[in-house]
Amino acid sequence: MLSVQTPIIPKVAALIRRHPGTISLGQGVVYYGPPPQAIQRLSTFFADPENHKYRPVHGIPALVEALAAKLGRENGIVVDSRREVVVTAGANLAFVNALLAVTDPGDEVILQTPYYFNHEMAVVMAGCRPVPVDTDSHYQLRPEAILQAITPKTRAVVTISPNNPSGAVYGESLLREVNAICRSHGLYHISDEAYEYFTYGSARHFSPGSIEEGVDYTISLFSFSKSYGFASWRVGYMVIPAHLFESVEKIQDTLLICAPVISQYAALGALEAGREYCLSHLAVLARVRERVLEELDRIRDICTVPAAEGAFYVLLRVDTDLEPMDLVERLVLEFGVAVIPGTTFGLTEGCYLRVSYGALTEETVLKGMRRLVKGLRAIVTRG
Ligand SMILES: Cc1ncc(COP(=O)(O)O)c(C=O)c1O
Repeated sequence: MLSVQTPIIPKVAALIRRHPGTISLGQGVVYYGPPPQAIQRLSTFFADPENHKYRPVHGIPALVEALAAKLGRENGIVVDSRREVVVTAGANLAFVNALLAVTDPGDEVILQTPYYFNHEMAVVMAGCRPVPVDTDSHYQLRPEAILQAITPKTRAVVTISPNNPSGAVYGESLLREVNAICRSHGLYHISDEAYEYFTYGSARHFSPGSIEEGVDYTISLFSFSKSYGFASWRVGYMVIPAHLFESVEKIQDTLLICAPVISQYAALGALEAGREYCLSHLAVLARVRERVLEELDRIRDICTVPAAEGAFYVLLRVDTDLEPMDLVERLVLEFGVAVIPGTTFGLTEGCYLRVSYGALTEETVLKGMRRLVKGLRAIVTRG
């Protein structure tokens, strides 16, 4: 475990606690909670005393069925005898399930840099080697670089779209290219779609699981945490090729047994509200995002802000030689605003900062952004 990186978010949180009044643009959560339908469903959980016992490892039948219908309707993922849906305690556990199912210790897993730190940590914990591949200057996939990173030990390629931490949304043709590379090299394509509903402007989400030829090697991960304001309820799900079902059941039975059943009932209620629930909040986030980008326009001379058309993150490259964590610390101590350093996401060259605008009210985000702009201007100019 000593070789596994320590997540930085708790460190930044400790810094914030020591400096009350700091506005945190650090946390990757949404500002809203679950829809009322989710809470109403809880009475049906309590109505059946059997619900206090263990339930099926892969999820309660009603939820699995409702998810299969959603996947077909919204993602173009047909759940037939060639695939299975497994309800998990969030997309993070779904990732661990997938990883343990397809790798042996010593294998390699290709991640895109910037990567989601928990993915990198999980790969190391599984005794495998993360192989980071750089994205381009817009944080877009580079299929030719992925191709070059493949070795006889490679087992899987991971993509996240919309992306944490960059906010990039990968286009359909790039995702199809990566999926085809996986097919021709006998690899799994693990596609994390926790932010599937969070796209802005003309960006469109594409699910690689909808590629007909990819059924046997594409693993798709989804989450209720962001879409339905469900972070603490711990519900996510994965779509896997049928041949992995037995392995995933063994893994999940050992790590979890089953996702919290009360939360699975709540998830059924959330699905009744449907994606419209998330989209109604997305209108607010889209406005906040515009304001964030407007604020950042004022410091374009000292930082680069690639297009961020998804999730609720912007990843800035700051034109400075300062260490990212030192910059983060000074922003908290001197300017009362917290962001996450890019080093956490595998960005070791250059000074990157992730700004998250999903968790607070528009007014507070704006106040935080003004502090950030003022702080960066002062620190970068003064040194
Ligand atoms: C890309 C990505 N995947 C998975 C997760 C975790 O989701 P869950 O709460 O469903 O485990 C996050 C949370 O920030 C994320 O950014």
